[in-house]
Parts: sequence; C-alpha cells; structure tokens
Amino acid sequence: MKISYHYLVFFVLLLINCHKNIPKPITPEIIPIPVSQTITEGTFILNNAVSVNYQDEFKSVANYFSEYIEKQYDITLTTAKTGAKIQFLKDDTLKNEEAYILTITPKEIIISASSAKGAFYGVQSLLQLMPVATNSKSMAIQCLEIKDSPRFVYRGMHLDVARHFFSVDFIKKYIDMLAMLKMNTFHWHLTEDQGWRIEIKKYPKLQEVAAYRKETLIGHYSDQPHQFDGKRYGGYYTQEEIREVVTYAAERQVTIIPEIEMPGHSQAAIAAYPELGCTGDTIEVATKWGVFEDIYCPKETTFQFLEDVIDEVVSLFPGKYIHIGGDEAPKKRWRNCAHCQQLIKEKGLKDEHELQSYFITRMEQYINSKGKQLIGWDEILEGGLAPNATVMSWRGTKGAVEAAKAHHNVVLTPNSHCYFDHYQSTHENEPLAIGGFLPLEKVYHFNPIPKELTKEEAQYVLGAQGNVWTEYMKTPEKVEYMIFPRVAALSEVVWSSSKQKNYDDFKKRLLSFFKRLDHLSINHANHLYELRGKPLYAKDSTFYILEAQISGKDIRFTLDGTIPTEKSTLYTAPIPITKSVTIKAASFDKKEQIGAVFSKDILKHKAINQTISLSVPPNPTYGKGGKEILINGIQGNKSRYGDKEWLGFDTDSVSITIDFEKPTAISSIITRFYNSVGSWIYPPKKYTVSLNNGFTKEVVLNTTSETTVKSRISIPKQTVKQLNITISCFGKIPEGEQGAGHLAWLFIDEIIVD
Ligand code: ACM
Ligand code: ZN
Repeated sequence: MKISYHYLVFFVLLLINCHKNIPKPITPEIIPIPVSQTITEGTFILNNAVSVNYQDEFKSVANYFSEYIEKQYDITLTTAKTGAKIQFLKDDTLKNEEAYILTITPKEIIISASSAKGAFYGVQSLLQLMPVATNSKSMAIQCLEIKDSPRFVYRGMHLDVARHFFSVDFIKKYIDMLAMLKMNTFHWHLTEDQGWRIEIKKYPKLQEVAAYRKETLIGHYSDQPHQFDGKRYGGYYTQEEIREVVTYAAERQVTIIPEIEMPGHSQAAIAAYPELGCTGDTIEVATKWGVFEDIYCPKETTFQFLEDVIDEVVSLFPGKYIHIGGDEAPKKRWRNCAHCQQLIKEKGLKDEHELQSYFITRMEQYINSKGKQLIGWDEILEGGLAPNATVMSWRGTKGAVEAAKAHHNVVLTPNSHCYFDHYQSTHENEPLAIGGFLPLEKVYHFNPIPKELTKEEAQYVLGAQGNVWTEYMKTPEKVEYMIFPRVAALSEVVWSSSKQKNYDDFKKRLLSFFKRLDHLSINHANHLYELRGKPLYAKDSTFYILEAQISGKDIRFTLDGTIPTEKSTLYTAPIPITKSVTIKAASFDKKEQIGAVFSKDILKHKAINQTISLSVPPNPTYGKGGKEILINGIQGNKSRYGDKEWLGFDTDSVSITIDFEKPTAISSIITRFYNSVGSWIYPPKKYTVSLNNGFTKEVVLNTTSETTVKSRISIPKQTVKQLNITISCFGKIPEGEQGAGHLAWLFIDEIIVD
C-alpha cells in the first residue's frame, strides 16, 4: 500500500515534469497579417538537435536565421546535407519574388520561395511564431501553412538624419525594425539645410563645414521668440560606414534610397561652398527648421558639383533610385539672379518653375546616364515632370493622381496618413511633435490607391512610405516612439491584402507584438488603452459617450475635474450633460489604471444641435467630423489640427450659417482658428458676423504666435433666428514662408454662441 502510494506520487510528478518540458506554442499573431494562414494539428520542437538545409541561393537568409536564433534564444542550429528538419526550398512556381510558403509540421519546417527575398519573409513570419523569450533552449512552434505575398512592391520608411543625426548602430537597428515588418525600402534623407551627412571625398568642406551647425533651436518652432542651445551639433557618415550599412540592409532585403536634396533645402552645402548659391554670399548652416531662400543656382559649376556628388553617391548605393528631393524650393533668389534670368531667356522657359523643371530634367539625364532612376517629391511636377521620374506624393494625393495619369510611377507618402512626425494621440502629455494628428487607426485604414485612378492608372502606384522628419526627435528612443506602432499599421497597408485586414484583430495582435518590441529594446507608444468620446444628441438633451479601443476593461469617470480612481463611477451608459462640465475618465484593469487619463471639456451653449450650413465643404481630409462639429460643444485640441473637432478649408473664403430652431437671445460669439505657419495654416485676416435682423459686425484679427487664435465678439443682446459668419481666408502664403505661393489653410473649431 505504502509502496504503491509512492509510485503514484512518482508518476504524477513525472507527468507534471514532462508536461513542463514541452512548452506550449504561442498563438500565431503575425504582423503584417499573411494573405492566407491555416493552423494545423501539433507543434514543431526547435532545439539544438535541429539542423538546417538550403540551396546556395538561400545561404545568406539561412545564416541570418541561424544567427538570429543563436542570439535571441541561445539555440545553435547546425547545417546538414540530409535529414535537416528546417529546409529552404526553391519554388519557381511562385511568380512573385517576394512570395513564400511556410509549412510547419511536427516533423519539419519548410520555407519555399523563388528568391532569397521570399525566403527572408518566410523567416520573418517564422520568427514571429516563436515566443518572445525562452530560457529552456527549446521551444514549440504551432504547426500551420502560410501562403503569403505582398500587395505592393514598394514598402518604405524614410528617416531624416539631417535635422538630428543618428549613429550607424541606430541606422542598423532601424533597418532591422523595417525588415521585421517586411518593409523593403529605406529612404535615407542625407542632406538638408541643417546638415550634410554623407562624406563626399571630392568636396571636403561638406564634411568640415556643411556637416555641423553652430547651435539648434530649443522647443517648438512656434514658441516665439526663438531660443537656441548654443551647442555645436552635427556629424556625417563616412563612405566606409555607408558601405557597411548598405551591406547590412541587403542582408535584410532592404534597398536604400539615398536622398540628395536639390535645388532647395541646400543651405548647408551653400554654407560650405557659397559659389553654389545665386548671391555668392557666405551663409551659415541653418540652426532652425523651415524653408530657406538660399538654393542652388543653376550654373554650370553647380551642375558640375552635383554631378560629382552623384558620381560618389552612385558608387555607394546599388539600388536603382536616387532621390533628388525637389520640394520646397523658394524661387526668390532665382528671380533676382541675373544668371538665372538669362538662363530662363536662353532656354525659352516661361518662369522659375520651368527653370526648376529644367534643373531636375538635366539632373535626371545625368542620373539615367549612370543607370539609375530619379525619384523626387511631388513639387517636381511643377513646371513639367522629368521624362522618367518617379513621384513621391507628400502634399496629399494630388501629385500621385497627376503623375499616375501621366503614366509615371508614384509612391504615396501623403502628410495626412504617412507623416510619423505628427502627434499620434490628443493627450496633452504627449512628447513634443511638429503638430498634426495621425492616430494609429488612420494609418491602418490608409488606401494607397487614390480613388481618382482607374484600374489601369493604379498600376503606377508602387506602394507607400512612412516619413520621419526629425526636427523634434533628438534620440533613437524618440524615433522609435514615433514610428511604433504606426509602422506596424503601415506594414499591413502595404503588405497585407485588404480582405485580410481587420483593425480590431490588428489591435489584439499588436498587444502581443508590444511584448516582442519590449524584449528587443524597441521603444514604442501604446495608446490602445486611451479612451475616446463623442457627444450624442437626443431631443432637448445631450449625452456623452465614452469608448475604449480594446474591450473588456472598466471605464471609470468623474465630472468634477478630479482624476478618476478605481472608486470613481463605472461607465455603463452615455453620460447625461446638463451643464458645461469636464469629463475625466480612464481604463482600469481591476484596481490598476491603464492608459492615460482622458479629459474633455463639454460646453453647453446656444448653438448646440441647431442647424448649420457651409458655403463650401471642408477639404475631405480635414472634414471627417462633419460640419456639425462646429456646434457640438467640443473644442479642437490646441496642438492637433488633424483631430475631428477642427474643419480645414483650402478655399478663399467660407460662409457659415447657423439657423436656430426657435428665436434665441444672444450676446456673444466666440470662434477659434488654428495658427501654424510651418504647416501652412493661417488664421483669417478678418471675418464678418451678420444676423437675420440686419445687424453686422466686422472683426479684424491681429497676428500672433499662439497655435490657436481665439476671437470673441460681444453684441448688444438681441433675439435672432439666424447667424452668419463669413470668413475671408488668409490667401496666398507670403514669400519666404513654408508653402510660399500656395493658398493658406483655414482651420476653425467650435463656434460658441451665448
Ligand atoms: C516634405 O515633407 N517637405 C517632403
Ligand atoms: Zn541664380
């Protein structure tokens, strides 16, 4: 009896131990979501006993895989001619060179592809099927079959290393982060007004002078007066370092597109070689952000300089594209330059825009003669597109539409959906950013094919890219915070088929992906536990709805301005609003607050829920909330003109009419306009208020540097049925400012009537 009891205990312990030794596989949660994925029975055990076999073509991918496993999991895989459990197989029936099939059974793992690119993406999916960490030198991987291929051939991320400079180590990490998400292009923005970052041996002053600025702007550009840190700042990549990065990227199937800006954003080069500019004056490397008037003068000596630069660049970068910038080149210097004006006459050009086109076309011929293709920002359309150019559409999608209709290839990087330097949350404590508002969800729902294009024209859309301008990103951690998780959303935009995409499912996979990022020491934002809200109008009453982005957690709120705790009121139904209040709310996981506190001022005023009409619609990109947001009791965020509470107009004027259901006594009107010169947003110079009884009043606004301009007018108390506000927008942006010559944007939020 005693013995058999001991045996029983022994067997039970053995069973428990055996069970412990067979780790459970993680649930497949791959980002970007594969085109097809079928889970099958069983698990594959990966440990030191597993060997790998590959055909020569896949050698570098197989090595990358083995090195990764060794580094992350301390599991050493051997190579074997026969009996290997992990096999890389060539499959020429896969017509897309980036496609792969990943088959995992209890006996083996097979990655089939027609090229190393496909095999590499098979590996990336396999890596995401592995646990974040294991210390048992053994892991179980879920059996399944994945058949996968990308939606777009161009899947890019850009990084500006000129506004702030980043080490070679970080550039490699950046490339790793792209590769992990099956992105295949790194657009390396190497030259700017604030610094030249690539060694050009023929022009040593680019290293000695152009690579350094004497100091840097402190705080935000719109904080006036400007202040500087007084510290010399800069650096550049040697050609040896660049070769090292190019090789590193190639091993990860990432092609690098170097950007050498011209004719604008070239103040650093002109600081080093003043003869490259129109005036010949000595200028300094820029110390603040913006658009600068000193641009390359199209002289023979300038072209010689640029061709020499291109020669060295071409020798470093094996990819087919050379990016020449082309954006934001003010024409003032060219207008006042005898040489430029003579050249315009001589070449029979109409104006300075055609001179820019001449400049770019000439550089294109040179670049083409070196066997490379030119790519540039959408300004290269102005004055006529160079014959073989690819266009990167950043000022919305208009440039993409125009270029694709003219049968030029395009890459979509619209600032409305692809600018990862914009804020990703409306929370006030968000780290300083340039402005705008680009939440994760908006990136996720981006469709790179503009709806104006026919199916045939859509063939010219190569893909999309996230842009990372680093004016407000001084450190790698900040860059990581700004790109993650938005780059993960973009990876599904450019890789996954639209049938497979599902935002709720993506958010769930993202929560697991965050653990992977944490383990890899990749910083990231997490706004998934932030709350959102919106008003709800019923007859004569207003409610406020709170929503979590991830379900299953408690929402608690207060109405007295205090921070919610686990004891605050549990949200179960829309909150009745009977007077102006501040709602503060947060998500709770039992007692623990998760995610930031949501705070919203809800105003009760006389225009709420009345009838509103506009003479012109807002631009669709900045009108998502509908015209009613002007009288919904909620003001826009002070630093996020992209939130739903602002309407953005790109017109000469706007007339807004509010019709009251009943005659209403009013005595004051408050309006607010957004002000961000750097984002081309200007408050109006004036507006006129008129009432249905004939009363009118004109209001002239003073210029200010605040991001929002509030305007309050008092009127003698009177009873009205209708109120009209007619706004004359700012008009053309003045010379010397960003976006000079374009119509300024007008952004307006709540019209508070009392
Ligand atoms: C750009 O953002 N200036 C291309
Ligand atoms: Zn000139």
